[in-house]
Amino acid sequence: MGSSTPQLKSPMVYTLSAISLVMLFVLYLAWRDDILLLPKPYQPKPDPLSSLDFVTRIPSRSLQCTTDTFNTGSWIHRPLQLKEDSIRGMEEAVNYHCRGNFPHKCYRRLDDNPSEFNRSHRIVDYAWEPETCALIEVDPRNLTGHLATHPLLMVGDSITQLQFESLNCLLGQDLTNVQHDANLTGGDPNVWAGQLVHPSRVDEKGAVTLAYMRSDYLVRLDDFKLMEPFDEEGYLIGKGSNFPWIHALDKFSYIIINTGPHWHADLKWGPHKSDKELLQAFTRGMDAVFKYLKEHVRQDQRVWIRSTPYGHAKCSKYKKPDIIPQVPTKKEGEYQWDLLESFDMVWKNWIEAEKDDRFRFLNVSLSNLRGDAHSSPDSDCLHTCLPGPVDDWNQLFFHDIAQAAVSMATVPES
Ligand SMILES: *[C@@H]1O[C@H](CO)[C@@H](O)[C@H](O)[C@H]1NC(C)=O
Ligand SMILES: *[C@@H]1O[C@H](CO)[C@@H](O)[C@H](O)[C@H]1NC(C)=O
Ligand SMILES: *[C@@H]1O[C@H](CO)[C@@H](O)[C@H](O)[C@H]1NC(C)=O
Ligand SMILES: *[C@@H]1O[C@H](CO)[C@@H](O)[C@H](O)[C@H]1NC(C)=O
Repeated sequence: MGSSTPQLKSPMVYTLSAISLVMLFVLYLAWRDDILLLPKPYQPKPDPLSSLDFVTRIPSRSLQCTTDTFNTGSWIHRPLQLKEDSIRGMEEAVNYHCRGNFPHKCYRRLDDNPSEFNRSHRIVDYAWEPETCALIEVDPRNLTGHLATHPLLMVGDSITQLQFESLNCLLGQDLTNVQHDANLTGGDPNVWAGQLVHPSRVDEKGAVTLAYMRSDYLVRLDDFKLMEPFDEEGYLIGKGSNFPWIHALDKFSYIIINTGPHWHADLKWGPHKSDKELLQAFTRGMDAVFKYLKEHVRQDQRVWIRSTPYGHAKCSKYKKPDIIPQVPTKKEGEYQWDLLESFDMVWKNWIEAEKDDRFRFLNVSLSNLRGDAHSSPDSDCLHTCLPGPVDDWNQLFFHDIAQAAVSMATVPES
């Protein structure tokens, strides 16, 4: 064999072979990078937030808003461009996917009062800008998918209902009516609950994604009991509902509660019908709520106490956002708006002192500057129009849900 093959033993061949061998060795070394001892490329630890499929933008940690820094800022005039001056044009511009109607959707009042559309437009022509921080941003559809397996319960008065309605619009693309009642009422026919479900779980018995239960005081006013289904509702100050809610907590990962606006000075709180007696009664009632929650909320659940926004007496005089908030006084308002901040501080102080990951405070004071955004300037100067500042509460809430989801993922379930 090979006798006909010319012998290639010129120096050139040796050189080429030697070069090839050296190159192979270099390749081998490159593959064994542990031998080469090249400095390892810098690999920053991935932010656990980036593992959440609903998070779309993560500001650097030092820039991320806290509930208070988010509320330090201003309303910037940034006119919203609508493709058409219509309900659809408005919903498209603010990314609303509303299911059904609701009294505070001012842009839909075309039949009763055509000028309300333009007023609604002027309200969203101002955008909230925090001064020094940024929010974690989320994809609303993926967030709704997350809530499908980590449901959210909202408990409180009509201001909480307003926040629920805003969520209905911001997340409504992937929410539908429940087909199987989730038994949030505990079987009590006198109680109702708002309940929506992600389409992926609509056939599942008892599945719920987003729920609202009306409780104006959170406790029964007669004895500060946290009621169970079929308990007597007891004494109420004024109109409203005070449904039981604690029996429903188990089903939910995220719970947001609030009370305040319906608490009034009353002879029930003491002989002087004074604010001092009222604040003491509120504190006792909330103490019962917090004690219950501390005992029963699981490590894999998160509870927010939301602050209450200012009301603005004679709010028809406001045509644009304030720079300095107009602190409400009792005499101007029908309700005791002057005490709402004191009520908030009861909770805020407790939560800050407790340092318990399960409890958070959600500050929504950016609404205090929006005397111009109220629902019916002649008669309702507490609720605001949708779309409007309540959508910003929910953007802050989404940011907080992202942080909560990460902290929940690192605790063992109990
Ligand atoms: C939503 O989640 C899906 C599945 O995890 C992912 O592929 C997609 O990129 C997410 N969308 C956005 C906008 O983050
Ligand atoms: C909300 O945040 C603002 C701005 O940081 C602060 O001035 C205000 O006291 C906070 N309100 C509550 C109820 O925490
Ligand atoms: C609403 O504003 C538009 C201009 O932006 C104006 O043409 C229209 O007349 C206004 N409608 C009402 C009912 O005021
Ligand atoms: C509904 O809930 C109540 C109490 O929370 C319970 O007693 C009852 O059995 C439940 N009903 C159904 C049909 O699951």
